[in-house]
Amino acid sequence: MQTHQLVLVLDFGGQYNQLIARRVRDEGVYCEMIRGNTKAEEIRAKSPLGIILTGGPMSVYEKGAPQIDPGVFALGVPILGICYGQQLIAHVLGGKVSSAQKREYGQASVILQKSPLFQGVEGESLCWMSHTDQVRTLPDGFSPIGFTASCPIAAIADETRKIYGVQFHPEVQHSVRGKKILRNFLYQVCGLSGDWRMDSYAEELTEKLRSQIGEGSVLCALSGGVDSSVCAALLHRAVGERLSCVFVDTGLLRKNEAKEVEEQFGKRFGKSLISIDAGARFLQKLGGVSDPEQKRKIIGAEFIRVFEEAAKQLGTVDYLAQGTIYPDVIESGSGSAATIKSHHNVGGLPDVIDFKQIVEPLRDLFKDEVRRLGLELGLPQALVWRQPFPGPGLAVRVLGEITEEKLAILREADAIFREEVATAGLQTSINQYFAVLTNLRSVGVMGDARTYDYAIALRAVETLDFMTVDWSRIPFEVLASASSRIVNEVPEVNRVLYDITTKPPATIEYE
Ligand code: XMP
Repeated sequence: MQTHQLVLVLDFGGQYNQLIARRVRDEGVYCEMIRGNTKAEEIRAKSPLGIILTGGPMSVYEKGAPQIDPGVFALGVPILGICYGQQLIAHVLGGKVSSAQKREYGQASVILQKSPLFQGVEGESLCWMSHTDQVRTLPDGFSPIGFTASCPIAAIADETRKIYGVQFHPEVQHSVRGKKILRNFLYQVCGLSGDWRMDSYAEELTEKLRSQIGEGSVLCALSGGVDSSVCAALLHRAVGERLSCVFVDTGLLRKNEAKEVEEQFGKRFGKSLISIDAGARFLQKLGGVSDPEQKRKIIGAEFIRVFEEAAKQLGTVDYLAQGTIYPDVIESGSGSAATIKSHHNVGGLPDVIDFKQIVEPLRDLFKDEVRRLGLELGLPQALVWRQPFPGPGLAVRVLGEITEEKLAILREADAIFREEVATAGLQTSINQYFAVLTNLRSVGVMGDARTYDYAIALRAVETLDFMTVDWSRIPFEVLASASSRIVNEVPEVNRVLYDITTKPPATIEYE
């Protein structure tokens, strides 16, 4: 049952859609994202107090463009349309939308007029535009409330029905007053109270888990990553030692990582933590294998086997806990993406473990909310702000065949790079950064002698969603000290490269 005031975000396939939902939650309002064409009756049944229509890549008049059920406009719920959302409002309610001469992309100066939506931000400010189509004529009851030099109808309002639209994107940080505009929609237009707070939610979740699990037992795979750690900490708070956490050291973790996880959770969880050193098993299975997909498959299968063995010793468990988070469960409004890499995570486990039900306590939360919950539960900052680390671990960062020696070289180089980034205070501005052991060996000179050693590649990326990324403009001095330390402190390395490729066309990881 929904216990918080709800805003629904109707997804029409735009690239910033998850950001809209996150911004709403950041303003203290619970929201969910659902498909743009959801039936009005289904929407009414959820009793939302506000509706946001997102942007999207198509033209409203194009064949196959995502549609909205016109009944949504008759629900009496305040609506804000963003970009494609504004165009949909105009198109469906009887106005006219057509293509502009020129695509408008980037920051533009917008003049905002008096309206509850723009309270406190009237006048001129910078906003982010990304569109080709424009609203040309307005439906009955609407007036223009904003314009730019090239877009005479940049914002619209029917104040009586509380239906608003903006052509620009208030959710992105380049719209300097965007946050305030979203806040106005939630508080001035929808009249919400802001009842979404992490401290009370942590309490609520704990109580919910207690009543769901009762006297039952729970099994959880702990990787040391943010999601599984928060999931485990929450369950431990709810059911204490009826939780069993299995941590598998695959031998493919970063320097000191297994020790840190064991120390951190050993202290906290006591008997609940079952730690398994399976490094030798993984290395043996991976011997002689250099194909990336093959490596991933071996690791995925072996992980399940190790986990299954540990679970068998525990006997039947009632619940299997998974750290699934909201972005994993959002049903996207646009088509499905091609599989680029077969990501390995615990998604494959339920088939092989004898359990009665799955619990996914984080499935309503975005990543930053999971982090806030982690802090609320008393997990340390370093763990809560840990950057993503792939399930197959260093196996996808040692290119080609994996050996103990190569893993050791990579661990040292990676630790140095991470230390240098931390010393420069860049840990939170770079979203993911790591070293890769390439399979390139090259000639160098050290002392008076010729060397023939490995090249280490450094990768650092900035991104909102890990789907598209830019390479990080790390200051040269930081790269210089990382490079100099790596070649001096890791004897098997004589060359350091910095990766300046975006995704696409590259991916973040190398395999
Ligand atoms: P790519 O390399 O596809 O990575 O650009 C996108 C993000 O996903 C992480 N990643 C993985 N995570 N299992 C995971 O749990 C995997 O197999 C895996 N492969 C990549 C990667 O670190 C980045 O954050």
